[in-house]
Amino acid sequence: MHDFRYKKNQLYCEDVIVKKLAKTFGTPLYVYSRKTLLDHYLKLKSAFSQINPLICFSVKANSNLSILKALVSQGAGLDIVSGGELYRALKIGCPAQKIVYASVGKTDKEIAAAISKGIFFFNVESLAELENINRISAKLKKITRAAIRLNPDVEAKTHKYVTTGKITNKFGIDLESAYKILLLRDKFKNLNICGLHIHIGSQITESAPFVAALKKVSDFIQRLKDKGVELQYLNIGGGMGIVYDRETPQTAQIYAGKIIPLLKKTGLKIIMEPGRFIAGNSGILVTKVIYIKHTPKKKFIIVDAGMNDLIRPALYSAHHRILPLAKNLKSEKADVVGPICESGDFLAKERYIAKVKEGEYLAVMGAGAYGFSMSSNYNSRLRAAEVMVAADKISLIRKRESFEDLIRNEKI
Ligand code: LLP
Repeated sequence: MHDFRYKKNQLYCEDVIVKKLAKTFGTPLYVYSRKTLLDHYLKLKSAFSQINPLICFSVKANSNLSILKALVSQGAGLDIVSGGELYRALKIGCPAQKIVYASVGKTDKEIAAAISKGIFFFNVESLAELENINRISAKLKKITRAAIRLNPDVEAKTHKYVTTGKITNKFGIDLESAYKILLLRDKFKNLNICGLHIHIGSQITESAPFVAALKKVSDFIQRLKDKGVELQYLNIGGGMGIVYDRETPQTAQIYAGKIIPLLKKTGLKIIMEPGRFIAGNSGILVTKVIYIKHTPKKKFIIVDAGMNDLIRPALYSAHHRILPLAKNLKSEKADVVGPICESGDFLAKERYIAKVKEGEYLAVMGAGAYGFSMSSNYNSRLRAAEVMVAADKISLIRKRESFEDLIRNEKI
């Protein structure tokens, strides 16, 4: 599953002792295993090899340039949602023809930049956006490819903040409205509306919601065919869940086995946009214990990483395993909390955590996706450093921020 393992009671990332990294680069520190990252991409690629999809890594999950570069150099494309992500994608040399662009709120400037760079296609989320992309394309004298993002109205059985395929969510276009748009697609003179897109949510651990959504999509495609509307592409989004603790999510093989028959039936070229499945287990957040605090009711392990470094526990009550860097079989019930002035600032609550002393280190597992990319400077805290390990090679892929970085754009 990943390349963070104990050898002689020391946690290693591939061939490197994590504690050595903590000492060299300081904490909080994101540590990534390049092998784990690439293995997950390759697992997906091989599970789907019979239909050879374009796998566009979802940049929002982890937007570090070195992470993106590692994946793109293996042939991955990128799924972006902003001008900033487009900038990153181009910066690392991702071919524009391998970039797909979603988001309910693309601005004129973002749309124009993506059109000028010649991205593969836009995933369009409303009629207003479709009209706008058509207008901007006309101005730029271009014909732009677009996929209609469908809202299939399915229950993804995941956290309500990351469910996106219910009709009450802001995402996509309902099937009836999309049908009408597609029948009249020729009226958009500067668009080539040639695909469909779905993304029903994130951290989905079963195949049933994907299958339900794809069944609806495949009936929809048939209805269009009956009217003579032929498409070329189907973008099935991301959303595959990973193991954080006790989940038993489907493997890439199982997922592929369930949906390939439906995908083949469509006859369309498939695009996918996985984020978490590729990056989630490739990274950990290493943090140092500052104080141990006992109150009449509880034990708190106060660490130097806070909700600004990893917001998932605070925002989604997400469970990340927490392991000591030096293996210790004795554990005690505690809350692991950060230094930030909010009670929501916790990494674990009422959990049996290895007995650690002040000055020792803990690793928050499964932090490779939506970890650093969601981090902030709240409480004027400096964002963490990131390192990537490849066998015994160590690369600093993001410097720890400095106080100057913190105020760089401010004026008195
Ligand atoms: N495609 C689209 C259009 C998306 O909106 C997303 C994620 C993905 C692909 C990638 O989904 P994945 O394969 O990673 O599930 N911050 C939350 C997750 C938010 C997901 C947003 N959209 C978390 O930490 O759980």
